[in-house]
Amino acid sequence: MIETIQSMSDYHTAYQRSIDKPEEFWSEIAENFSWYRKWNDVLKWDFSTAEVKWFDGALCNITSNCIDRFALLTPHKSAIIWEANSPQQQSKRYSFKELQIEVAKFANVLKSLGVKKGDRVAIYLPMLIEGAIAMLACARIGAVHIVIFAGFSSESIIDRVNDCDAKVIITADSMVRGEKKISLKEIVDEAIGQVPQIEYCIVLKRGEDNIEMKHGKDLWWHDLMLHADSICEPEQMNAEDPLFILYTSGSTGKPKGVLHTVGGYMVYAAYTFANVFNIQKDDIFWCTADIGWITGHSYSLYGSLLNGTTTVFFEGVPTYPDHGRFWDVIDKHKISILYTAPTAIRALESFGDSIFKDKNLSSLRVLGSVGEPINEEAWHWYHKNVGKGNCPIVDTWWQTETGGILISPIANVTNLIPAFATLPLPGVQPILVNEKGEEMIGNNVEGNLCIKFPWPGMARTIYKNHGRFVETYFSMFPRLYFTGDGCKRNEDGFYRITGRVDDVINVSGHRIGTGEVEDAVGSHPNIVECAVVGFHHEIKGQALYIFAVCIDAPMQVAALKKEVETLITTKIGIFARPDKIQIVKNLPKTRSGKIVRRLLRKIAEDDISNLGDISTLVDADIISEIIAGKMSV
Ligand code: PRX
Repeated sequence: MIETIQSMSDYHTAYQRSIDKPEEFWSEIAENFSWYRKWNDVLKWDFSTAEVKWFDGALCNITSNCIDRFALLTPHKSAIIWEANSPQQQSKRYSFKELQIEVAKFANVLKSLGVKKGDRVAIYLPMLIEGAIAMLACARIGAVHIVIFAGFSSESIIDRVNDCDAKVIITADSMVRGEKKISLKEIVDEAIGQVPQIEYCIVLKRGEDNIEMKHGKDLWWHDLMLHADSICEPEQMNAEDPLFILYTSGSTGKPKGVLHTVGGYMVYAAYTFANVFNIQKDDIFWCTADIGWITGHSYSLYGSLLNGTTTVFFEGVPTYPDHGRFWDVIDKHKISILYTAPTAIRALESFGDSIFKDKNLSSLRVLGSVGEPINEEAWHWYHKNVGKGNCPIVDTWWQTETGGILISPIANVTNLIPAFATLPLPGVQPILVNEKGEEMIGNNVEGNLCIKFPWPGMARTIYKNHGRFVETYFSMFPRLYFTGDGCKRNEDGFYRITGRVDDVINVSGHRIGTGEVEDAVGSHPNIVECAVVGFHHEIKGQALYIFAVCIDAPMQVAALKKEVETLITTKIGIFARPDKIQIVKNLPKTRSGKIVRRLLRKIAEDDISNLGDISTLVDADIISEIIAGKMSV
């Protein structure tokens, strides 16, 4: 098992070694895994072309490491515990041995449908154990999984399937979240008509209703599994073969297919999980993120299983059937590590202390936070009420592209400062640079957060578009990986993430590209142009504010706003719904036609006392008009 850091002196030793001798450092960690063949080189890299290879030439399979190993060592230990949306429904558990069998069976199902190494398989499922089984089955046979969060619309499915050319999609008839029931299959059906490359749609039965199954294409999961063989030899994968693609939003254009490869991702997810959460043998780990996001991939699934840790999947929402549900889940399953998002913490905080009545929470040992900056108040509330003052909070900073946590306290080791992600993990070399790309040396500085040396978990490319990978991450500041985040380093060298410095908005921990929302809004026949900015929101962290210019002054402003909302929901998903839409006569623009978003951001934030120089605008009067119009939004 991975040897973990237990003290600050361990941390400093490990960190220094990871900088001085990165290849030795990472190859020693990689020795903890089973490989069919070892690597030729530990690392080859060139940030100017964004070429990075870890453990190239080595052969392995991630599922041998996260399932087979433990099916031998701890066959009866729970690998995954599933808690249903309704507390009345019985929870399910799969031991490592049972998981091994189910994954092998489903891997054989995929093979029988002609899925081969390198083929792409889309997964559009809610939080069910079968989601994990589907992902692991892909990894078993070397197929590349593309999990599409089950809150995305059919148009988003079409974009993703078209981009990655998936030949199979796996979904469920329906899903439940709180009181809400959603017909997933109908959403997939709307997409399938427009993506002929999908040969099969495998449907898991979650609900009771009869649904239409199209002859030839639609296949029931349970029918396929009935006679599937329970042994499936793992495919021997090169460490640099793709493991999965996950789509994420950026400043411009359509979501990017971020590609992660097998070997480096495996080593990094496992190493960071074991260290950050200071993992113990009997931990029960619950990450509340959906498997549709990177946190679900790296920690609900791979990181935990690679360490033989029991992981909990929860199908429901924190507020159903009441606001105490999170605590009930923790008490019921004796969860020792809770990993959740600040938005959930703030939402629960708003219900008052009564939500803890009759809850115990004594099983908790470590708390985690991820997805967005956690404000100090929420940090203290989490620490005091959930952790009862004696659980460290690991505020973990990372991204879809980084594959795993880069900056974070190590539980029970690092000194905590509320709202600080604190220190880089071993192997991570952050640097702060100013607008000109000059390094901000020393402490007490603030700048753009970049990373100057590769780490094994980093994304290797954007699927089918390496140029965009180079352009997005390695060209703003040459030979540095640019994260898109702003960051402060305090007098002790501790890092505090201040939020995105690009046009990405983080709404309830969901990463939303303003460009995508603008495309959706701009497709309305009466809207000529629009600008989307983020503004502070008490619970969501940030919310969307849309400024739209119409061709004809709308008679029914409320109706138009509804139509815009519907457009966003159908083109992206319900989580991208704006909080505010303002119809304006014009947008503030420079003489060269650039929209001055800085001003719109200030207006959205109600921060209008100092708007700075507006003399460069074509029509400076528009600013006071927009401010006046804001009253009616
Ligand atoms: O802005 C940072 C924010 O989330 C972004 C990455 O989003 P995504 O790729 O969806 O991955 C989220 C889960 C890893 C980052 O660029 N972010 C993530 N974690 C933190 C954070 N901001 C502040 N503190 C964090 N702990």
